[in-house]
Amino acid sequence: MSKAQSYFECVQCSYQAIKWVGCCPECKAWNSLDEISTTKSNRKNVTAAINADKHLHKLSDIALHDQKRIMSFCGEWDRVAGGGIVPGSFILVSGDPGIGKSTLLLQICTELSKQHSIIYFSSEESLSQVKLRFTRTQNKDLNPRLGKDDNLQLLFSDQCSLQSIIEICKEKKPTLIVIDSIQNIINSETDALPGTISQLKESAFRLMRLAKENNIAIIATGHITKEGTIAGPKLLEHMVDAVFYLQKEDQWQTRTLRSIKNRFGSINEIGFFHMKGDGLQEVANINQHLLEQTKHAPGSTLVSSLEGTRPIFLELQALVVPVKFGIPQRIITGIDHKHVSLIAAILEKYLHVPFSKHDIFFKISGGMKTKDQTCDLGIALALLSSFFQQPLPAKAIALAELSLTGQIKPIYNIDIHAKECKTFGFSSMIIAKDQVLNKQETPTLKRLTTVHELLLFFPESENGE
Ligand code: TYD
Ligand code: MG
Repeated sequence: MSKAQSYFECVQCSYQAIKWVGCCPECKAWNSLDEISTTKSNRKNVTAAINADKHLHKLSDIALHDQKRIMSFCGEWDRVAGGGIVPGSFILVSGDPGIGKSTLLLQICTELSKQHSIIYFSSEESLSQVKLRFTRTQNKDLNPRLGKDDNLQLLFSDQCSLQSIIEICKEKKPTLIVIDSIQNIINSETDALPGTISQLKESAFRLMRLAKENNIAIIATGHITKEGTIAGPKLLEHMVDAVFYLQKEDQWQTRTLRSIKNRFGSINEIGFFHMKGDGLQEVANINQHLLEQTKHAPGSTLVSSLEGTRPIFLELQALVVPVKFGIPQRIITGIDHKHVSLIAAILEKYLHVPFSKHDIFFKISGGMKTKDQTCDLGIALALLSSFFQQPLPAKAIALAELSLTGQIKPIYNIDIHAKECKTFGFSSMIIAKDQVLNKQETPTLKRLTTVHELLLFFPESENGE
């Protein structure tokens, strides 16, 4: 006879314990542990039922589905999605509440539904609210001309039961469904409240199966909690095919859509949108927009940073002032503060510029952020330019890495940056001496070997004369 076994699992966070406890040690929820029974004989049956040959396949026996991507013809979205949505993939779009996730997805769906069948499950808002948003984004009222959306294969539902959603999808077989939001989906087979970890885990698992078995692409939205993670400690990120974050850059009305994970495309791809009165508008020429905001002044340098496959121009701004209090301050935003301190230390060592007796304030214009090593030379030039109070040559862009020994090093993908620089009429590129450039159609090149040559840009400095 099989021996009955059981364990206890928290419905909020899936914490498991052998004995029941009143307060979950993991999430501190009270009375949240449920008993889950399992018997040895059951487990034996499961293993006995498996027929190994049935579950193993040769590569040649695996059929390839037609993987033609679903294109929205919204360039920014398609690029972030890795060149369109892959049929049967599961995408999570995440961001703060009110950032524009529903607006973005509604607009994408409207475009896609001209060619594909789409069901939009709005578990968060009523259908009339969705319609209001639709009319707003279409910049026209559909009411007097009801039926004008007949040519769109776009259907809406306010179902929030997981089982109903799965049934509807199996029957209608749409190309794509949107679930807005996954945190409001209710799985009647789990006792936990919507949005709790065990609900999310189960919903994501069942939806993933739905996507793969029926070749239905799924886009789900998810809110970010106060701690900055998608509710359910990044749990969903592991389960889905792609994760896109919709964020607002600090000072702008610009929204950035960034791919954090993508099984079918490159990560860190970035798309730009402006929130207008009639919805989100893509900003295809973001570099033009960024350049219009730059000022040619001491302490400012232009660099180009690769975000996914896209070069983005950034204006680095440095302010170097003699130290006011005992310990020099380093107030740095948009870039790792240790990295700026490191470059200041390299310059101090080889050029004897006394940064350790100066406060350094450093930021990237427009509240942008970067981790790209191609900005090293730009950081060094911005610091020196502020220290000597002399601007760099106008329309020059710095593209090189610095080594701890004061050498200026080549970067990867220089040709992508060079092409963009040419498009935007940069007059010179400051690069490493041994940088290899494939295409010759570049602006004037200033090639440097060591940091000592940086002083040549500041002729009035003591060493540069
Ligand atoms: P929404 O898409 O509802 O955000 P989320 O789904 O991420 O919670 O966007 C809501 C915000 O966007 C709200 O503050 C109003 C603003 N908005 C516009 O400025 N213009 C528009 O055309 C729309 C539809 C919304
Ligand atoms: Mg929403």
